[in-house]
Formats: sequence, C-alpha cells, structure tokens
Amino acid sequence: MVPRRAGAILCTATWCRRCRGNEMDGATLEVEDVAMTAVYLASDEARLVSGHNLVVDGGFTIGKLAGKVAVITGGASGIGKAAAAEFVANGAKVIIADVQDELGHAVAAELGHDVAEYTRCDVADESQVAAAVELALARHGVRVNAVSPHGVATPLAVSGFRGLFPAASEEELRWFIEEGMNELDGEKLEAEDIARAAVYLASDEAKYVTGHNLVVDGGFTVVRRFLNMSSITEGNRINMSRIEVS
Ligand SMILES: NC(=O)c1ccc[n+]([C@@H]2O[C@H](COP(=O)([O-])OP(=O)(O)OC[C@H]3O[C@@H](n4cnc5c(N)ncnc54)[C@H](O)[C@@H]3O)[C@@H](O)[C@H]2O)c1
Repeated sequence: MVPRRAGAILCTATWCRRCRGNEMDGATLEVEDVAMTAVYLASDEARLVSGHNLVVDGGFTIGKLAGKVAVITGGASGIGKAAAAEFVANGAKVIIADVQDELGHAVAAELGHDVAEYTRCDVADESQVAAAVELALARHGVRVNAVSPHGVATPLAVSGFRGLFPAASEEELRWFIEEGMNELDGEKLEAEDIARAAVYLASDEAKYVTGHNLVVDGGFTVVRRFLNMSSITEGNRINMSRIEVS
C-alpha cells in the first residue's frame, strides 16, 4: 500500500513582484519557485516528508528580531504584555520580568515556553534587574532607547486617573484616556502601537539609533504640551459631553 502524504506550501498574496515585503536581497519570488517546491513535495525525493509546511518566503516569517533576546519589564500586563507578544511575533525570545507571578507565568505560557520565560523581577531593585538582564543577554553592542507613550487605558493608567477623578466611572476613565486626551482624529492609541515602536527600536532597522526617545503621542506634545483638565471636567467628574468625539 502506498502511504498517503500531505504537504503544504505557504503562498501568500503579499508575495508579488510589486510587494515591498521581500526580506532577501537580490532574489524575487516567482510563481515557478512555488511550483518547484510543490513538485519537490509531490516527488519521490520527498517520500518520507509528510505533514510538512514548506515556507517559501525568503525568511519573511522569521521576523525582524530573529536571534534577539529581550527583557520586557512589566511584561505581565498592558504595554509590556503587548510588547512581549509583538517581539515574539517578530522572532525574538523574551524574558518577561514582573512582580505579578501568576500573570507573568500565564503570559509566558500563552506565548509559548520555547520563546518566552517568566522571571520575577522588581525593577526598583537594581540587583534583580541585573539578574534578569544577565539571564537574557550576552553583553555586546547594546543600544539604549526609550519609548514615551501617551495615554493607553491599561490597569495602571485607569487606576492613576481614578485618583484624580474618584467619582468617575470605569467607562468615563477609559473614555478620558482614549478620547479626551487624544489629539489625533480617527485614531486611538493602543498598547500594540507602543509595542511596534519598541520592535522597531530593537530591530536592526534601528541599528544606528541610540539615545533616542521615541514619543508615541499622536502629536500631543507638539500641539498641546499640557492638558487643560477644566475643559473636560467638572469638579472630580469627567464631562464626556464637553468634547466632540469624531
Ligand atoms: N498606560 C499609559 O497611558 C502610559 C503612558 C505613559 C507611560 N506608561 C508607562 O508604561 C509602563 C507600563 O504601564 P502599563 O500602562 O502597561 O501598565 P499595566 O498596569 O498594564 O502594567 C504594568 C506592569 O508593570 C508591573 N510592575 C509594577 N511594578 C513593578 C516593579 N516594581 N517591578 C516589575 N514590574 C512591575 C505590573 O505588575 C504590571 O504587570 C509604565 O512604566 C507606565 O508608567 C504608561
């Protein structure tokens, strides 16, 4: 009896000659390349190959951060959690350093233990930070950059504004962070936007960028610089009707 074999080839619509997503210098993916791969999988040369997905993408799916290891402080929640997911999606391995053990372990498990590891690390304690970094890095060619986010409605931001507006509801607080402080029409800042900025800074695309503060604030600090709380608040409540949201 001839055993049945099954193989798959990843062939995505993003791969056309006009596409700028090619990761391989000097080579363009042609339909013939995919066809030859299919011929190989169907031939006797691949007689012992079954259940295999042969990715023909010039390294695209390996990602911008292949071979890199990142320590993500505060990686159990909010922006750090989104950054950990984005780094892994781009091929990095991550050390999630946080003080919320249960959440941190859960995030590492969600991402996969082959690419993510949790370690308890209180960033207020230098020796714990050093231990987390040593766990992750062979120290060479270190670049240091910062990402400065505007308001993202994470647990930290919501509880921070609750201190300012104790009478406001959860919905009002989230609205205030996402819409009330927003200067950019039609766009809302999300944890993933910060995560992608961090991926860029960590990648070789930013190989000569160091000592930089990448402000991701939808123009807030250029346009406004400070928040006129009285225009959208009444006492310790948030007046959502005072701002027109597009
Ligand atoms: N959300 C925003 O609007 C906003 C804006 C600007 C800057 N930030 C900064 O971004 C960072 C992440 O905040 P977030 O909004 O994602 O909040 P978050 O509450 O969702 O996540 C913060 C994470 O940090 C961890 N953490 C707290 N203290 C720690 C410590 N001592 N050591 C290690 N981990 C600790 C928490 O356990 C949590 O998992 C913070 O430094 C915050 O100040 C946030």
